[in-house]
Amino acid sequence: MAIDHLHGLVMRNILTGRSWEGSADQDELDYLAGVARKPGVKLIGEIGFNAGLSSHTFLEANPDATVYSFDLGEHRYVRPAKEHIDEVFPGRHHLILGDSLKTVPAFHREHPELRFDVIFVDGGHSYAVAKGDLMNMRRMAAPKAWLLTDDLTPWKRWGKGPTRAWSEAIEDGVVEQLELYRDGRRVDEIKPPGDRSWALGRYLQT
Ligand SMILES: C[S@@+](CC[C@H](N)C(=O)[O-])C[C@H]1O[C@@H](n2cnc3c(N)ncnc32)[C@H](O)[C@@H]1O
Repeated sequence: MAIDHLHGLVMRNILTGRSWEGSADQDELDYLAGVARKPGVKLIGEIGFNAGLSSHTFLEANPDATVYSFDLGEHRYVRPAKEHIDEVFPGRHHLILGDSLKTVPAFHREHPELRFDVIFVDGGHSYAVAKGDLMNMRRMAAPKAWLLTDDLTPWKRWGKGPTRAWSEAIEDGVVEQLELYRDGRRVDEIKPPGDRSWALGRYLQT
């Protein structure tokens, strides 16, 4: 499978002692694929490209979809991962490098008409970045766009910011949560134990 190439890239990076940032596991990638296949999905916007696993999953799941990824581009494997995605899915993937708190609003100014049918917020995991990303992507959400977020595990260091940002967006009436998953199983609340937790929702005000 072409995605194995990306897994190999990551493994080589880990084995040579270089930095590696977590990605979705197989349960979550399968879930992302299901969302990409929902009726009418054409444009997908994600914050957090990393080694391209979620981008690859979206593109493979839905041959009609185009993916726009926003990423800092700080990891060495970002470039080879992007090259691989372009080889397998020519013309269907765009990577916008830089700090999403700046690049997402700038991209929106340059493409005011563009609206994403699926949005995946999985970039910086500090509260400030997760919150900013959620709010900034809202301006580019199609009516009834599917909104995904990852790492709703506040009992882990990297889950604190995304969980606070997501919970506040719900409390403030900006986002409605539709489904919550923990380690591949549907659950009702964000609660330990668990390694991975993600949610599907929608923006209530676009
Ligand atoms: C958890 S990884 C994304 C994983 C990817 N969505 C997947 O499932 O395969 C997070 C990525 O966000 C990037 N990132 C962190 N802070 C960022 C920021 N402020 N702006 C853009 N990207 C950022 C990191 O460099 C990393 O590549």
